[in-house]
Amino acid sequence: MSDNSDPKPAGVNSRRAFLKGGLAVGGALAGAAAARAGTPDPAITELQEWNQYLGDGVDARPYGTPSEYEKHVVRRNVEWLTADPVSSVNFTPLHELDGIITPNGLCFERHHAGIAEVDPAKQRLMINGLVDKPLIFTMQDLMRFPRQNHVYFLECAANSGMEWRGAQLNGCQYTHGMIHNVMYTGVPLRLLLEEAGVKTNGKWVLPEGADASAMTRSIPIEKALDDCLVAFKMNGEALRPEQGYPVRLVVPGWEGNMWVKWLRRIEVGDEPWHHREETSKYTDLLEGGTARRFTWEMDAKSIITNPSPQAPITHGKGRTVLTGYAWSGRGTIPRVDVTLDGGKNWVQARMDGPSFDKSLHRFYFDFDWDGRELLVQSRAHDSTGYVQPTKDELRAIRGENSIYHNNGIQTWLVRENGQAENVEVS
Ligand code: MTE
Ligand code: CO
Repeated sequence: MSDNSDPKPAGVNSRRAFLKGGLAVGGALAGAAAARAGTPDPAITELQEWNQYLGDGVDARPYGTPSEYEKHVVRRNVEWLTADPVSSVNFTPLHELDGIITPNGLCFERHHAGIAEVDPAKQRLMINGLVDKPLIFTMQDLMRFPRQNHVYFLECAANSGMEWRGAQLNGCQYTHGMIHNVMYTGVPLRLLLEEAGVKTNGKWVLPEGADASAMTRSIPIEKALDDCLVAFKMNGEALRPEQGYPVRLVVPGWEGNMWVKWLRRIEVGDEPWHHREETSKYTDLLEGGTARRFTWEMDAKSIITNPSPQAPITHGKGRTVLTGYAWSGRGTIPRVDVTLDGGKNWVQARMDGPSFDKSLHRFYFDFDWDGRELLVQSRAHDSTGYVQPTKDELRAIRGENSIYHNNGIQTWLVRENGQAENVEVS
């Protein structure tokens, strides 16, 4: 490495290395995916506009935003889904992302009473109920406890809920986009509960939000003392208001509804509270009218993000990258299988990137597309040995009345022209 104090030689070196590298890669690709040398390409032969002006200075963009060419990469909602945008949801554009981290501005939002704009100076977190010492923490108090960093996915229990009765929405953003994967910085909830001293009959906690919905959920004390975090940072910076600024609860691997945002109170009790969000909602209605409650852990699931209806194959046949995400609320994802023919033949995908517990994982399948119609599916295996079921296998057990916890295998039909659509195969 060259001397850091003199950026120029380093720049020259890395530019030379880049040019050399570029030539080598170009050579390897010739005849496959790259254009042939010899055809004049105006993108090379003509002087581009941006080569001729002085660009923005370092004072122009104090908080950076994506390139104007990336304007289409946004959260989107489905208008007919909810009566108004305040108690509603929008979806992460999964097909535009890569790696495993969801950028803060693209994390899907689900709120029941809009975004609360909480003043951190007035933020208080109270712990009360079955404790030796009821306590109130300011932001400054929280920042004095030892912190941890963890990457976790948050999936709404209603993710893919519109697909229970058949293929409906055209795009993985809509079928699977109620998920995000973020590195949280926060204080283990265990440390705060220990500070307050949980009484021996304290078996449950009830986190409560400071927004107008005052969201509450019952969580067993074992989970609260295990890996829950009281988080104030996401991907290194303060939580976004949409995600519960200044403090939210992180409940790794468990359904998103329990991750209370704008967290203001945690009550300790001896039994669950049976509030609205754990009775009439977030309960799985089964065939025959019985209901399954407290299905907190998110089962293993996966989705091919490219190709997909919003991300068709536009380059024609030949070298093709198929990719997607897999995750499990019970651990890691050691393996994902992929099929191109609707489940007749399966091959193992290539996992790439870090493999964290209860986090999204990235998989790839690099293949030569012969231009024929495809029925692409992915199937996740988690570290407990659980294998993602087909939609029909799920329906055989759960019926078709459910909204929540649909982790069935998704199928995209990719036509000869590269366009894709949401279908089901049986
Ligand atoms: N917490 C509060 N206070 N209010 C809410 O409306 N929505 C819940 C949960 N926590 C909600 C909340 C639901 S249903 C989900 S899926 C997640 O927050 C969504 O988190 P996100 O907006 O960061 O994606
Ligand atoms: Co939700």
